[in-house]
Amino acid sequence: MDKTMHAIEVENLTKIYGKGETAVTAIADATFQVKPGELVAILGPSGSGKTTLLTSIGLINEPTHGKVVIDGTTVADEGWLPGIDLKRLRREKLGFIFQHHNLIPFLTALENVMVALEINNLPKNEAKNRATELLAALNLGHRLTNYPMALSGGEAQRVAIARALANKPKVILADEPTAALDTVNGKNVMALLKKLAVGNNSAILVVTHDHRMVEGFDRIFHVSDGRIADETNNLGEE
Ligand SMILES: Nc1ncnc2c1ncn2[C@@H]1O[C@H](COP(=O)(O)OP(=O)(O)OP(=O)(O)O)[C@@H](O)[C@H]1O
Ligand SMILES: [Mg+2]
Repeated sequence: MDKTMHAIEVENLTKIYGKGETAVTAIADATFQVKPGELVAILGPSGSGKTTLLTSIGLINEPTHGKVVIDGTTVADEGWLPGIDLKRLRREKLGFIFQHHNLIPFLTALENVMVALEINNLPKNEAKNRATELLAALNLGHRLTNYPMALSGGEAQRVAIARALANKPKVILADEPTAALDTVNGKNVMALLKKLAVGNNSAILVVTHDHRMVEGFDRIFHVSDGRIADETNNLGEE
């Protein structure tokens, strides 16, 4: 494998919703690369295009223009590449974490994580071992048999992190993962997320409104009206 390969490559990415007079350009001509293991925070006001950026990279939202390459596979070039298996790529290469945990309510914490592994064909006993280990690493060893309803917000969000990271995805996309938590829990969840991502050499893009959460990130992207300024590059130019 090419050692210089980026986890994410985006070239002139543009996402326009709608057509004609009501068209909204949510992402305008974004170009950047993210390396494996890099932690990138995305800051910006409401409506600036942060979620659109994540979903356009995350194989959920078809880019209108430009190129998206995930772990060396070109997925979009002026729209989805013909014949691309979006579902499989999402399952194998990406991990998603949202503001609300989206856990399956009738499965326990352990089962919620096991599902993510079994869907990628890991045998049940191996899935169980790996899910148990992962939950223990997230300080949830004592919550394996709890249902989501019986977990605190911070606990549920840590289960969601375990689920998203279970397959060691090359790319983790998190949209305000700490927004529903208080500061202490939020910082705790963010620290665990960073530690596991770095351990797996996963690239991570985290959208956050909260400046206190970006401590220890390698780069910060500021999004404003669909345009992305990379603070790291700006610092380099000074
Ligand atoms: N499905 C959609 N159809 C039409 N316009 C959309 C759609 N999704 C988002 N938009 C518009 O695109 C722009 C960017 O929205 P986006 O959700 O990416 O912003 P955001 O930065 O994530 O905001 P927030 O911080 O409120 O979550 C906004 O003007 C929004 O109204
Ligand atoms: Mg958003």
